Amino acid sequence: MIIGALVQDIAQRLRDHGVADSAKEAELIVSSLLHLSRAQLCTSPAEVSAKSIQTIQQYAERRAAGEPIHYIIGQLEFMGLRIAVGPGVLIPRPETELLVEETIKQLRSQKAEERQAQGRSVASSHVTHNSSPMTILDLCTGSGCIALSLAQAFPNAAVVGSDISPAALQYAKKNAAGNAIDTVMFIEGDLFAPFAGQKFTCIIANPPYIKTSDIQGLQSEIKLHEPLSALDGGQDGLDFHRRILSEAPAFLKPGGVLIMELGHDQADDAIGMARTNAFVGIRCILDYAGVRRFFVGHLSAEQLETASVLKN
Ligand SMILES: C[S@@+](CC[C@H](N)C(=O)[O-])C[C@H]1O[C@@H](n2cnc3c(N)ncnc32)[C@H](O)[C@@H]1O
Repeated sequence: MIIGALVQDIAQRLRDHGVADSAKEAELIVSSLLHLSRAQLCTSPAEVSAKSIQTIQQYAERRAAGEPIHYIIGQLEFMGLRIAVGPGVLIPRPETELLVEETIKQLRSQKAEERQAQGRSVASSHVTHNSSPMTILDLCTGSGCIALSLAQAFPNAAVVGSDISPAALQYAKKNAAGNAIDTVMFIEGDLFAPFAGQKFTCIIANPPYIKTSDIQGLQSEIKLHEPLSALDGGQDGLDFHRRILSEAPAFLKPGGVLIMELGHDQADDAIGMARTNAFVGIRCILDYAGVRRFFVGHLSAEQLETASVLKN
């Protein structure tokens, strides 16, 4: 059987089992197994071996039975990186790429402002300033997709990814090696517990944020396969954001930024909690669907100075 006919055959089988994006998923299955790009699939006249056809058909059966496509093929592309996934780790979602892109923009503009301020200060005082290296903490790192993408964008930054799940961290470390990124350290622990006394330029998190009562209503593909500990955000879905917003100020450098992904209806609550925790420059960024999906807030440099004056 030639490749094109095989793709059509698999797509039909997936369609018959109610898989929504059957054509695209058939291409994904065949291209990943034959190590071809999706463009090559359309043009290659090659015959597929009987052994490969058998494996591809087994993959299609698993998909038809409801297993997530990315667990079956074992990987996905995220910000140009190849990210390995499987049972025990959340499959990164497209909106999280937007979270990373917005974080890169935010950190680049912060760096540019710092450089300008240093330029002004050098011009007026003739003192040389060394800007301190950027330090980034990715809480709830899962597959490491966020930490690794930020390390790729900022090769001189010190990036740490942490998670409570040893299974997730195994994937994160495998993904660092698979993408030849050796500047990220992965640490196991409960949110900020491993970081006593440390301060970061940026803390980023995509924590679990689904209300416990909504878990049952999720697509079975998600609730039967992806780890519950990556999804369940407690009664109102905000357990993790609440903890992160109250604890983050102690772990941010003056002027440091906290960036988090939110559930579709959590922006107002997150903003309210951020105000009570003394964050400034608070804003929410929209996702592709126009939903306020990402929280951004800064630790005020001024408030920190006032606090230290009061202590002295
Ligand atoms: C929504 S997933 C995000 C994974 C990855 N950052 C991404 O965007 O695809 C949430 C992650 O939080 C981790 N997690 C759950 N409870 C945690 C805790 N108390 N401390 C640290 N990580 C936790 C889960 O293991 C899971 O990997």
